[in-house]
Amino acid sequence: LEGIIAAHTRLSDVRGDIGQLIYCGYDINELAGQVSYEEVVYLLYHNHLPNAKELASLKAVLSGYRELPQGVIDMLTSLPKDCPPMHAIRTGVSALGCYDTTADDDNMDAQRRKALRLIAQIPVITAYFHRSRQGLPLVAPDATLGEAANFLWMIDGEKPSVEKESTIDMCYVLHADHGMNASTFSARVTIATLSDMYSAVTTAIGTLKGPLHGGANEGVIKMLKEIGSLDQVDAYVADCLAQKRKIMGIGHRVYKVLDPRAPHLKRMAQILSAKLGDPKWIQMSERIAEIMLTEKNLHANVDFYSATVYYSLGIPTDLFTPIFAIARTSGWTAHVLEQL
Ligand code: COA
Repeated sequence: LEGIIAAHTRLSDVRGDIGQLIYCGYDINELAGQVSYEEVVYLLYHNHLPNAKELASLKAVLSGYRELPQGVIDMLTSLPKDCPPMHAIRTGVSALGCYDTTADDDNMDAQRRKALRLIAQIPVITAYFHRSRQGLPLVAPDATLGEAANFLWMIDGEKPSVEKESTIDMCYVLHADHGMNASTFSARVTIATLSDMYSAVTTAIGTLKGPLHGGANEGVIKMLKEIGSLDQVDAYVADCLAQKRKIMGIGHRVYKVLDPRAPHLKRMAQILSAKLGDPKWIQMSERIAEIMLTEKNLHANVDFYSATVYYSLGIPTDLFTPIFAIARTSGWTAHVLEQL
């Protein structure tokens, strides 16, 4: 990478020293809970927030792009039922490239179309695989629903509550982009060889999957289940620290203060846990975060509380990282377009 400018982007700015995340000039705290995921997609693509007409037109484009080629559906439904969803999604995106006759068309309009199609189709790949592995009938996308609601509809087979939809929508907003993180960087490396959109996003999904990157949110729930109860937390964390084992969801390569996304997710986790009447998971999480701050001066990151949020919403653990991938597709593709 000698002499190569890699980390310059207009898309997002991660200020690790002061704990600030900015998307195209907007502080994440101005966006979270205020705008929808589709508005953030528009912002990343056009560098400004949409007006009502622009937003309606983007929503129509995305909902019109959802359906998958039959060959991809057949492939997804023939995968082993116990295949981890991130493998299925990575393979599904790669397969989409085989069915798109414009996959190698480098015209920028074609690139933008492919990018938007991936934003619309990755949730569908995830939902079809998830239904098929349970032996359940596939649920067709519903063009009247936005991205968050449609995904929940397609995995559950029932329309989500307003609260569930808005929670997932806010999670999408918080995960949409994050500067030159590992998966975005790998997507940019791939497209920098003038490969294609599908290859770039396939690369990114493979990179996000790792437990030190997007896979950490699944690791958090596994860890909480392994610990079992609040009174076991101190001993568990002490043991991990003694053995130099990483605590999932803690620490960050860039933020040396609190990850600005964490408080939004913590608040959601608290509300949902209280509603569920099972405060155990959030109490354990808070105690882990407290110890790690005192002992190592390390803060919770985006994955730490998102795990409890998804768990409280009844989302299967192995769909946590896919949800991250669904949301981050907006950032990956915007970066690929910027790189081009
Ligand atoms: N649990 C225990 N110790 C941790 C830790 C964690 N989650 N994260 C960092 N540390 C330790 C490091 O081992 C290092 O210890 P040392 O000084 O004794 O060698 C120290 O804290 C400082 O680490 P730092 O340089 O801040 O972290 P990093 O930049 O090397 O790594 C991560 C950043 C994200 C890869 C790392 O924090 C991690 O693996 N976290 C867990 C996985 C995770 O949640 N990933 C999602 C990130 S959004």
